[in-house]
Amino acid sequence: MEEKLKVLNDCMTDHPDFPKPGIIFKNIMPLFSDPERLALLGEVLEESIRKNFPGCTKLVGLESRGFLMGMAVASRLGVGFVPIRKKGKLPGEVVRQEYTLEYGTDIVEIEKCSLTASDKVVLIDDLIATGGTMKAAVKLIGSTDAALLGALCLIEIDFLKGKEGIENFVSLIHV
Ligand code: PRP
Ligand code: MG
Repeated sequence: MEEKLKVLNDCMTDHPDFPKPGIIFKNIMPLFSDPERLALLGEVLEESIRKNFPGCTKLVGLESRGFLMGMAVASRLGVGFVPIRKKGKLPGEVVRQEYTLEYGTDIVEIEKCSLTASDKVVLIDDLIATGGTMKAAVKLIGSTDAALLGALCLIEIDFLKGKEGIENFVSLIHV
């Protein structure tokens, strides 16, 4: 596992002052452009979910990079994938959660019909920084009929302590 994670970590590039001054942007796209790395990503995510979240029936990915993570592993696990999207993108009946940003608020939504009471959900995203995005997703799943097993991020920015208050949180690469 550690060697595989090192290969994945080494291929991601850091971009200082992008998209704003003071932010170091971690570019995850090299994980997907090379088929061997993409397979390796699927392997590590699969291993982690099987170990930490046995019984998972649905992966719920956070828009938008969480979609890439979820889809890299859902079929390997034989589970479904459901997106959480920003407001106004999903049709039909939705469950909605407002959350606080640095300035103002935003809203995330999930299709009501996408989860049932028999579902055991694992939230998945590429990265946790402040944890605001993931905490909104945790609350959103809490207002559905499904059970939440926990949350998985490939990368965690440790010093921001974003995982505090999130039950059963797992991350694989620490920066
Ligand atoms: C990034 C990242 C996480 C979130 C983490 O997404 O993909 O989803 O920020 O930040 P937080 O822990 O402080 O909430 P972003 O909002 O940049 O959008 P994207 O996934 O659509 O690129
Ligand atoms: Mg994101």
